[in-house]
Amino acid sequence: MATTVLAASGLWKSYDGRSDVLRDVSLEADAEDALLIWGANGSGKTTLLSILGGLDVPTKGSVILGGREIARLKESALAKVRLHDVGFVFQTHNLIDDLTVEENVALPLRLARRPADARVTDLLQAFDLGRLATRHPNEISVGEGQRVAVARALANGPRVILADEPTAALDAEGTYSVLTAFELARTSFHAALIVASHDAAVPGFRADAYRLEDGTLSPTG
Ligand SMILES: Nc1ncnc2c1ncn2[C@@H]1O[C@H](COP(=O)(O)OP(=O)(O)OP(=O)(O)O)[C@@H](O)[C@H]1O
Ligand SMILES: [Mg+2]
Repeated sequence: MATTVLAASGLWKSYDGRSDVLRDVSLEADAEDALLIWGANGSGKTTLLSILGGLDVPTKGSVILGGREIARLKESALAKVRLHDVGFVFQTHNLIDDLTVEENVALPLRLARRPADARVTDLLQAFDLGRLATRHPNEISVGEGQRVAVARALANGPRVILADEPTAALDAEGTYSVLTAFELARTSFHAALIVASHDAAVPGFRADAYRLEDGTLSPTG
């Protein structure tokens, strides 16, 4: 039986009491699921991902991540959730320029005070990053940087990877490289993958698609 790793229900969000960005949004993801959330500028994609990953809290509603309610946790507890239970991938890789590729991948492990060496070796190998290990982010391509970002997101073995327009800045080759990395994150590392995009489909990415519009989420296939 599939394991539900993330279940959000009845999410509402307004910023400073202004109009509702999310209106009764519910969503469920099992291990190894791939979900695409698409919608126009300002439709609330980043808001939703932030709430699902404990970067922000909803005005109302529930987010159960790995069996635990996170919607009403305090910031210090949310920081732990972000470190252990989710991995984030953004439009540009957000790697730390002063660290090498392998040090970037090791960072979440170091922050969690976990042994890093064996895990980092495994991740670099799985994502074909071995030959880039000692380079810095400014010495690799944008697509390679996104692959490092996916490896880093997986460092602490999260249940869910949340990716906010991860291919928007990439050409076809870079997009292929990131999608291959996502596929590996799902099938070899058993993470659920939730990707936000402007477009109704990301070429080469097979996923259950949902449209976010007027604050509500509905399946589109
Ligand atoms: N911190 C904030 N404070 C106030 N309003 C915000 C904040 N963050 C987002 N909003 C508003 O919430 C709405 C949804 O924004 P959000 O960034 O979630 O949309 P999006 O779908 O990710 O857009 P884009 O496609 O441009 O990335 C917008 O109207 C935005 O102006
Ligand atoms: Mg956004």
